[in-house]
Amino acid sequence: MKGARITAIGSYVPSRRLTNTDLEQMVDTNDEWIVQRTGIRERRISRADEYTSDLCAAAVQDLMKRYGKSVQDVDMVLVATSTPDFSFPSVAAIVQNRLGIPLTSGAIDMSAACAGFVYALHTAHALVSSGLHHKVLVIGADALSKITDYTDRSTSILFGDGAGAVLVESGGDKDHFLGGNLGSDGSGAQHVYRTGLADKVNGVELAATGMLVQNGREVFKWAVRTVPQGVQQVLQNAGAELAEVDWFIPHSANLRMIEPICERLNYPFEQALYSLEYFGNTSAASIPLALDLGIREGKVQNGQRILLYGFGAGLTHAGQLVSLSLDPQVGAPTPY
Ligand code: COA
Repeated sequence: MKGARITAIGSYVPSRRLTNTDLEQMVDTNDEWIVQRTGIRERRISRADEYTSDLCAAAVQDLMKRYGKSVQDVDMVLVATSTPDFSFPSVAAIVQNRLGIPLTSGAIDMSAACAGFVYALHTAHALVSSGLHHKVLVIGADALSKITDYTDRSTSILFGDGAGAVLVESGGDKDHFLGGNLGSDGSGAQHVYRTGLADKVNGVELAATGMLVQNGREVFKWAVRTVPQGVQQVLQNAGAELAEVDWFIPHSANLRMIEPICERLNYPFEQALYSLEYFGNTSAASIPLALDLGIREGKVQNGQRILLYGFGAGLTHAGQLVSLSLDPQVGAPTPY
């Protein structure tokens, strides 16, 4: 096995803000309820002509500018998303062409909802550490505003748009991916969905509205139960202790989920990083956005151990403990 590491990161959010006060004009809700129950204050919303591939391209442009990186030698593009521009072609193929990535590079979208980025990271690690690939571009991106029902107060307050990208490259002998864990439980498929061709799952009739539908309570309970167990499994697989984890980045679904998850783990809440306060739940983008916020704010440093844990529709979940070893930055991040 060869070593692999994350060498660069970039991110992007659209410029339009949707605040809690804006939502008060659209549905029967209020800022106090939203902040108290979710911790979310604002979300970013794509323009009508701005799609997931556009968010991905902008995140990679930020990465290239900051780290002086080229994507000319990328040999695989993995895009984790639930809101692809089309069922097919893939967002990854569109991004490959848009960024001038070689025609010999592989390109594929991965569907694991809010766990998608960590699933893609796991795959990138497997590809690079096996020696099959050398430089993998991993992007988590979603334009959830395109499938959010802005007349439904139970979902419209939660979701936003964004993208985060990282490069996974050979890391010499040392592997900076210390251990991971994957899981899925399709018996809960009916709890968060957007219908496609079928309108029934597990014998349950689904609402074919073309919009995201969820049973928030069920997802909440499942995540608070599942994530702490998953984190313990990551640590066991990595041969690491929780006390060695400098930062914990759970999926930014709801601050009120992150608190009990930290409590159950007995992990200090102050060391949890999240992107939901000003970006909402951005699904596959939420973890790379939180990581990049931590880097932009100077909290997250090379050499630190970071535990990422995604969870969401499927139901799916995925965790990874990494030791951060980014290349030096040569340019400033593009402001959000
Ligand atoms: N504004 C004001 N009141 C609202 C509201 C809103 N936006 N949404 C719901 N309410 C009301 C409900 O009608 C209910 O009123 P009632 O007690 O008079 O019946 C009350 O608030 C509580 O509703 P409930 O749905 O039980 O709230 P909750 O505390 O469970 O929070 C979510 C709802 C959706 C925020 C929460 O369940 C959640 O975040 N779940 C996880 C979702 C998730 O992670 N999804 C993505 C998958 S990764």
